[in-house]
Amino acid sequence: MPNNKVRKQIHLAAHFPGVNNTTVWSDPDSGSQIDFDSFVHLARTAERGLFDFFFLAEGLRLREHRGRIFDLDVVGRPDTFTVLNALAGVTERLGLAGTINTTFNEPFELAKQFATLDHLSGGRAAWNAVTSSDAFTGENFRRGGYLEHAQRYSRAAEIVDATRALWDSWSEGALVIDRERGVFARPAPTVRFTSEQFDIEGPFVLPRSPQGYPVQIQAGDSDEGREFAAAKADAIFSRHGELEDGQQFYTDVKARLAKYGRARDDLKILPAATFVLGDSAEDAEERARQIRLQQVGPQTAIAFLEQVWGRDLSGYDADGPLPEIDPVDNVDITRGRVRHAKDPRAVADAWRARAEAEKLTIRQLIIEVTARQQFVGTPAAVAAEIDRYVQSDAADGFVLVPHITPHGLDEFVDKVIPELQERGSFRAEYTGTTLREHLGVRHPHQSSEGVRAS
Ligand SMILES: Cc1cc2nc3c(=O)[nH]c(=O)nc-3n(C[C@H](O)[C@H](O)[C@H](O)COP(=O)(O)O)c2cc1C
Repeated sequence: MPNNKVRKQIHLAAHFPGVNNTTVWSDPDSGSQIDFDSFVHLARTAERGLFDFFFLAEGLRLREHRGRIFDLDVVGRPDTFTVLNALAGVTERLGLAGTINTTFNEPFELAKQFATLDHLSGGRAAWNAVTSSDAFTGENFRRGGYLEHAQRYSRAAEIVDATRALWDSWSEGALVIDRERGVFARPAPTVRFTSEQFDIEGPFVLPRSPQGYPVQIQAGDSDEGREFAAAKADAIFSRHGELEDGQQFYTDVKARLAKYGRARDDLKILPAATFVLGDSAEDAEERARQIRLQQVGPQTAIAFLEQVWGRDLSGYDADGPLPEIDPVDNVDITRGRVRHAKDPRAVADAWRARAEAEKLTIRQLIIEVTARQQFVGTPAAVAAEIDRYVQSDAADGFVLVPHITPHGLDEFVDKVIPELQERGSFRAEYTGTTLREHLGVRHPHQSSEGVRAS
């Protein structure tokens, strides 16, 4: 068996399967995505599996398609901090990561909320800072007018700096108890932070939390997003889960670290991935095929197509060929979703060519083009594959997105985790208490020699 000390260790996070296209709500085993019991079950399962952290995505406006609330969003999106703080009370070691927007929030409020979560959880808080990709979401906020892409990232960087200034304003030595007079006497923890978009004066309201700063996660994919991650983040949640694509992304981002005086291990890269297990390879493949058919039903297939075509295609048969009519430039057909296809005509041409070459119907094509990294096989085979990706630097681990809420992780924890442990690539127990310790990322007030500065 490989030596635990030298073998690169896998980091795992559990994505709560809320309103995304992965979740199969039609499955009789699907439960509520609002009930606290659902959050508790997934979090406790992840903790039983010694995962690094539990992860919540965020949507600040219900998405719409052709003027109607997107079908998956009708069940609603609960508040991230409320859920994570509640989970802090029913878990002990598991990291608690929340996606929180930098475009619509104020640094002081964020600093207070994350410091509170870090205190309440004993050092398990993480912040996935996202910038949001659409003005449609901005309409829910006073700032409505929205910001350009570059400004969103400069605001994100300024917010992270501002929150850090606030957290740092109350250094570890700042609290003094005057026992004789029976009162607290301490130097006022003041802070003055000025930047292009902020001018903030403290003092902050809380002592420094166990992790110094929450673990910083980043999820944007653009050049600005990657640079922001290299400068500030402890982990990236990425879409680059395929082997070669993952390796390219990994190499690209890790190479950016040096100019910020950071080491390769200071930033963990965790792509999203799904998994399907079976008793045999064939069994797993068949289950995966059935799940994909459930994830992309006829209506969903047409809705995806309409996002590119920018027009009503409800008259088309999902089991028939792609439309011959051309797309129109109508980015508003779906509102509130991250758009990656910049030129609908080019995408439509590529899809038509692929459908013709591979003899695919609309639904079959959408199943192919919306596929994400998926580990399919027996538990031993899935463990071997995950390990191979990590050992060959396509990732430092994965954010696993189960397709069933809330029991979708049970089988993975029962069957795959022991295989990973057997391979020497995954912890046999938690060795630390904070998320920084689980991830092996530095405490912000620790020098590279490991000395903690106050
Ligand atoms: C893997 C991944 C997950 C994301 N999750 C969220 C999310 O939960 N909520 C959100 O508002 N934005 C989310 N985003 C959007 C990003 O924060 C960002 O706004 C968007 O990707 C545009 O930035 P970019 O051009 O750098 O990619 C996510 C992006 C990626 C790549």
